[in-house]
Amino acid sequence: MFAARAIRSMKKVLVIHFSQTGQLDRAAEHFTRPLVEATDVDVTFEQLQPVDPFPFPWPFLRFLDAFPECIYLDPPPIRPLSIDPGATYDLVVIAYQVWFLSPALPVTAFMQSDAARKLLADTPVITLIACRNMWLMAQEAMKTMLADIGARLVGNAVLIDAAGSFLSLFATPLWVLSGNKGPRFGGLIPRAGVSDADIDACDRFGRRIVDRFRSEAPLDQSLLSGLGAVTVDEKLISSERMARRGFRAWGKLLRALGPPGSNRRKPVLIVYSVFLVTFLLTFLPISMLIKKLAAPLTRRRIAEQKHYFSQPSGMTPGNPGRE
Ligand SMILES: Cc1cc2nc3c(=O)[nH]c(=O)nc-3n(C[C@H](O)[C@H](O)[C@H](O)COP(=O)(O)O)c2cc1C
Repeated sequence: MFAARAIRSMKKVLVIHFSQTGQLDRAAEHFTRPLVEATDVDVTFEQLQPVDPFPFPWPFLRFLDAFPECIYLDPPPIRPLSIDPGATYDLVVIAYQVWFLSPALPVTAFMQSDAARKLLADTPVITLIACRNMWLMAQEAMKTMLADIGARLVGNAVLIDAAGSFLSLFATPLWVLSGNKGPRFGGLIPRAGVSDADIDACDRFGRRIVDRFRSEAPLDQSLLSGLGAVTVDEKLISSERMARRGFRAWGKLLRALGPPGSNRRKPVLIVYSVFLVTFLLTFLPISMLIKKLAAPLTRRRIAEQKHYFSQPSGMTPGNPGRE
């Protein structure tokens, strides 16, 4: 027993995080609690800091003005990390929120930095996401950036807003534009954000990681399987793809007009906001209805897509990714 303890090495975990309201930080805190409490694991937290802080709450035009850079993964300047980028870790957790179907800009900036290249190469990485509910395209972008720097994605856990797909379409933007989570209009629009229960339940991931460390088994893609780490909403797969195409087209035009904040972008942003609201209130529900009606014909393809997006951690407890 003593001998086994003596040879067990101290594991080092790095948590890279960025949150405006603190919601994602709380999720990361619960996720890592069992690791922090374990005497044989050393956890380091590194908060990303943009050189020019992003506002919260967001003024409306400033909010919209961020989408071209988000979708094109244009990195804003961030402050140097407080940790040594030459250090090695047994596991890195990247906790990020989604901005316009992309990782939030400070995280995009980190992923493209020399520090990320040094810290993440050949290293197991878990992504932890807390967002409204559209995270599929953001995670695709994240997967590409991780692959580019030679990191190994071994797990993904996603928390989404409790209000549900339709009502969060109102609740979440109202929250980030006002700073007030609600509920509003006597509960007609529910409270925005991830539920406390979902945040508290993140401890299960940390417990699994501690067990895996102690068994000295390698950290592979089974790390978070069977824990219900993600839920893929099939209705959102094509909606996200369509919305991403729209963001890229309008984003290209806006980037050509000037940098973020430039006056030349403002008239186009106003036109775009009208287009976006019309799209969200008309085309999106109609296309979701059509998809529901066509579901019997597309069941197999949708099941394959759900399986793909649920990887590496899988959806259903006990039967990962095979719903
Ligand atoms: C500029 C901006 C764009 C956002 N875009 C998306 C999005 O595309 N998909 C999504 O699910 N949530 C989106 N959200 C919601 C965030 O992912 C997140 O839930 C919210 O900002 C709260 O994060 P925090 O509590 O960690 O600060 C967006 C938020 C902001 C501020």
